[in-house]
Parts: sequence; C-alpha cells; structure tokens
Amino acid sequence: MKAIVYTKYGSPDVLYLEEVEKPALNEEKVLVKVHAASINAGDWHLLAADPFPMRLTGVGLLKPKNTILGSDIAGCVEAVGRNVKQFRPGDAVFGDIFGLGSGSFAEYVSVPESALALMPSNVSFEEAAAVPLTAVTALQGLRDQGRILPGQKVLINGASGGVGTFAIQIAKAFGAEVTAVCSIRNLEMARSLGADHVIDYTIEDFTQNGKQYDLILAANGYHPLSAYKRALTPQGIYVFTGGSPAQIFQSLFLGPLMSKSDGRKMTSVMQKANQKDLLFIRDLLEDGKIRPVIDECYPLSKTAEAFRYFEKGHARGKVVITIAAQE
Ligand SMILES: NC(=O)c1ccc[n+]([C@@H]2O[C@H](COP(=O)([O-])OP(=O)(O)OC[C@H]3O[C@@H](n4cnc5c(N)ncnc54)[C@H](OP(=O)(O)O)[C@@H]3O)[C@@H](O)[C@H]2O)c1
Repeated sequence: MKAIVYTKYGSPDVLYLEEVEKPALNEEKVLVKVHAASINAGDWHLLAADPFPMRLTGVGLLKPKNTILGSDIAGCVEAVGRNVKQFRPGDAVFGDIFGLGSGSFAEYVSVPESALALMPSNVSFEEAAAVPLTAVTALQGLRDQGRILPGQKVLINGASGGVGTFAIQIAKAFGAEVTAVCSIRNLEMARSLGADHVIDYTIEDFTQNGKQYDLILAANGYHPLSAYKRALTPQGIYVFTGGSPAQIFQSLFLGPLMSKSDGRKMTSVMQKANQKDLLFIRDLLEDGKIRPVIDECYPLSKTAEAFRYFEKGHARGKVVITIAAQE
C-alpha cells in the first residue's frame, strides 16, 4: 500500500510517499481502507520531536519508532478478525487510532474495534476524518475538566482552529452562552458555528476588559495564567488545551498551586480517545448539532505541503488528507 513515511525527525521535508507492507489483520482487529485522514498538532510534534523531551516517552530517541504518522481516519471496513463483533466489511467507520500501531496517512490501517464508530450518514469521509481527536478533546475539556452547565458563560480562546471550532459547537450543545476569541477573518465563521459573542484578539484583550466567565477553554492564544484567572468568575474553571511552551509550563506546574488560593480552578485536559466519547460526538454530528470546519483537503501525495500549511498555526478548522476515492 502507499503511505506517507518518515524515518528521521525534522520538518515536513522528511515526509515522503512510499510503498509499504499492508498492515496485518489478526482476530481482534479491523482492517480499514482509509478514505481520508486529518492532521493534528500532535502529528506535527511527533514529526519534529518537539518539544525535545518527548523523545524520552517511547516514541524513539534518535529516530521515530512508528514511521507512519496520523491519528484521525475515516474509511471502509475491508475485513474483520474472528473476534470482532461491532463491524462488518463494507461499513463506513471513523476514529482516532493514535498509539494503536497504525498511522492514518496510509491506504490501510489495522486497529482494534474499540477505536472505531460507524460514520453518521450525513457526513462525507473527509468531514468524518476531521472530527475524532479534536472534537473529543473539546468534549473532554468542556465536560470533564470544565464541568460545563447550561446557561454558563463560556469563553473559547483559539476558537477558529481544530479544537476551537468544535468547542464552540459543543459548548452550545450543552446550553452555554459562548464567547469565541479569534482573529478578524474568522469572526463570521465563529458566529455561524453558534458563538453568541465574538472577540477579535488583535484589537481586544478579553483578559483586560473586566468581563468574567464561568469556564474558559484555551486552545492556543497566549496570556499569563494570572490573566486567565482574572477573567474567571469566583468559582470559574480555566481549562488549558494546548499552546506555547510557556503556557504548557504554567498550566502544568503553576495551575495546581494557583487553584489552591481561592475558588477558581486552573486545570488542563489531556485527551484520552475512547469509544464512548466517539459515539457521543457521532450522535452530535448525526443530529446536526456539530459540523466539522475544513480549511483545505490535500491528496496523500501532498501531505508534506499540508503539514507546511498546518504548522503556520492559522488553519481555519481542520486540514484534511484525501486518500482513496469514494466508491
Ligand atoms: N490536550 C490535548 O489532549 C490536546 C489535543 C489536541 C490539541 N491540543 C493542543 O490544542 C491546541 C489547539 O489545537 P488545534 O488543533 O485547535 O490547533 P490549530 O487547528 O492549529 O489552531 C489553529 C488556530 O489557532 C488560532 N490562533 C493562533 N494564534 C492565536 C492567538 N494568539 N489567539 C487566539 N487564537 C489563535 C488560529 O486562529 P487565527 O488564524 O484566527 O489566528 C487558528 O485558527 C494546540 O496547541 C494543540 O497542541 C491538545
């Protein structure tokens, strides 16, 4: 099969298209013909081995152990192992396959059934591939860490990226009043996704305008932790999703300390893929409560170009890789 392979860490220039062995099926696994995949920030971090200490986490000290990147897939089941109960050949499925031995920038993956869900019929393969990792991150950030409640004032910083576009819609689905922070070119899109209020971060600093929020989800957008705290109501919760190294450091090390000083909580989310949450997201998609925003689709052979675009940090929603034509 064809796959995008990398054998050394570096820029997108180290990604190349190669003929590799199709992944093997065993009795517990599902062989999926991949129609589309999408790029996530985690793929970019693994490509560059950035930050450096991640090399110590088992991904490969000097070169990558898994040579095919990619977490999100949508495609058709080609074959199933003897013990697979939930899927049959021909089913359209989607899921997050990170850490399961297969990478998504390839024509086939072989993964456990628990990583997959049936695709809703109202989305294309490209749309389905844009969903799993970032939508589940937004869900777990808002619901599990943020304890979102109907009627709460929720602010999403970095609202126009992969996580943010889902966070706006999921917060609305939970009945919150949503403020989206993004740059001017994305304000209209944020409104169209349901944001009740929008703030252009290039002209207004929401941490300085005196307004306070019950829940702030930060996916990109640097402010010191003290500034985020100032923008929280007395019992408010700040959830860090991702951002600059300074943000990561502050959230992981200072956040727990700052939470002790009063009722405000400064926490972070580490997304954990699981089928229950994927099915929850699937239902929101099927009911039309969320829809993926796709900035651009690239063919598999142009995956390096897609990474170059993604790493600029201003993709609107998701960057998708189209792999196989739909039958
Ligand atoms: N914790 C986890 O488990 C987990 C899971 C997934 C992702 N993440 C992290 O979450 C973060 C967001 O991921 P993503 O997939 O949404 O990234 P992304 O799609 O690359 O985000 C791009 C968006 O960020 C916005 N942005 C850039 N600078 C900004 C600023 N100063 N203020 C506000 N918005 C800004 C851009 O909007 P404009 O073009 O309008 O500037 C762009 O639309 C990343 O740091 C990623 O590593 C963490």
